Amino acid sequence: MKPIQVGLIGLGTVGAGVFHVLSRNQEEIRRRAGRGIELVAVNRRNLDQARAIVGDKAEVVANARDIIANPAIDIVIELVGGTTLAKELVLEAIAAGKHVVTANKALLAVHGTEIFAAAHAKGVMVGFEAAVAGGIPIIKALREGLTGNRIEWIAGIINGTTNFILSEMRDKGLDFATVLKEAQRLGYAEADPTFDIEGVDAAHKLTIMSAIAFGVPVQFAKAHIEGITQLQATDIRYAEQLGYRIKLLGITRRRDSGIELRVHPTLVPAKRLIANVEGAMNAVVVQGDAVGTTLYYGKGAGAEPTASAVVADLVDITRLHTADPDHRVPHLAFQPDALADTPI
Ligand code: HSE
Repeated sequence: MKPIQVGLIGLGTVGAGVFHVLSRNQEEIRRRAGRGIELVAVNRRNLDQARAIVGDKAEVVANARDIIANPAIDIVIELVGGTTLAKELVLEAIAAGKHVVTANKALLAVHGTEIFAAAHAKGVMVGFEAAVAGGIPIIKALREGLTGNRIEWIAGIINGTTNFILSEMRDKGLDFATVLKEAQRLGYAEADPTFDIEGVDAAHKLTIMSAIAFGVPVQFAKAHIEGITQLQATDIRYAEQLGYRIKLLGITRRRDSGIELRVHPTLVPAKRLIANVEGAMNAVVVQGDAVGTTLYYGKGAGAEPTASAVVADLVDITRLHTADPDHRVPHLAFQPDALADTPI
């Protein structure tokens, strides 16, 4: 069978990771997806930089809309970031009948309801595993592995930059500004690191998990958000002396009055597993009524961990699209369920 054709918009660090993972693991991916997955076109404004990554293995285009207009392309990967151009491109790709895979947490947390509704109406799929906790397959865990559970709560370290800053401040006694610069140098931080240190990035990811776990619409605007900018080295030291670690946690919980959605620095007893998640790693704890407590741990950022999630969505979409090309199951498009009226 002809390989499924993929176009990638925004060939940056993660995009290059996707190209490398798809090339390196081509044979396993083909077997698992039931057919080949071919990256046929990539977009980046600087064509020379794009060619330096993909060589002659994919067409390089300077205009993202050439990918959307290409009738041969079945799946569009959006790695542009931001919520303005990315939103236009994703909606245009959906309108053109393409499946979409995105790592864009801000886009989905703010405009997810509109995007998923458009995908549902068009009968295409939107994969977004890479949008939450990078390489940790937490979306699949919530949607598939834990789907028989009533989820009670989710709590997690879902921003690598802030966890790295808090770890380095504690271990090395370094000051906030110095460690933030290091996090930027290592490529953990967002283009605008305010989103990381003010808790906004974590709240984007929490909003998406909450919507899936509790069947509520994505409502980022209702999240309580507090970052780590007010923390001082002395807070971290005193916490340590009292047997605690300070972690920036995202917490979403089912309450009688509605769904709680909050991100803030939290004192965690030092002997807890989550207190020992160090550096840029992420960890998510999910409490389900049947399964009890489960913990998911791994790299929450970086080229190949994020690419791992993007490629997993490509494989899922390829399987579903191939099994049922005429009646495309909007399996990956999140739809609020009966709890949709639950206040947040
Ligand atoms: N800036 C994000 C983080 C990148 O530090 O976790 C991955 O979403």
